[in-house]
Amino acid sequence: MSAFGKLLSIVFVATTLVAWTAVSVVSAQAPGPWVAPAGEKATKNPVKGIGNAKKTVETNCVSCHGASGKGDGPAAAALPPPKPANWTGDAVQKQTDGEIFWKITNGRGAMPPWKHLPDNERWEIVNYIRTLKGK
Ligand code: HEC
Repeated sequence: MSAFGKLLSIVFVATTLVAWTAVSVVSAQAPGPWVAPAGEKATKNPVKGIGNAKKTVETNCVSCHGASGKGDGPAAAALPPPKPANWTGDAVQKQTDGEIFWKITNGRGAMPPWKHLPDNERWEIVNYIRTLKGK
């Protein structure tokens, strides 16, 4: 390889490294506020009542979200931000049922997706979260 060719490959490798470092620094930052897609907002909750949601939540959610839903479960301390949401506060309660349902369904980061729970159970969980408002 010519000296010029060598120089070109060094420049290329260096540029790639710099770009890669920049990307990893940016992606290591905590993501911004979690906003459900606009279309999900108007989705109507077809289910009344909480069914077995209290039990489903005890099994699947309280480890992170806490027994009273304040986001203070035993696993929460070990998680990097964003921390598990406080279901009792305005940030969650001001959202529509459709938005909360979509977030439970899809998850983000440490918050797992719960698609495998039947739709009506996820709606019952939304209704259960409503019972914790302001508690
Ligand atoms: C492993 C920990 C963990 C478990 C288990 C978990 N969550 Fe979460 N949850 C999180 C984290 C972390 C966030 C914040 C995610 C974000 O903002 O990016 C979150 C956010 C949420 C939000 C969104 C609130 C908002 O910011 O608008 C809802 C609703 C929610 N969780 C419901 C549930 C339900 C219901 C279950 C159980 C079926 C559950 N979560 C189980 C960690 C968890």
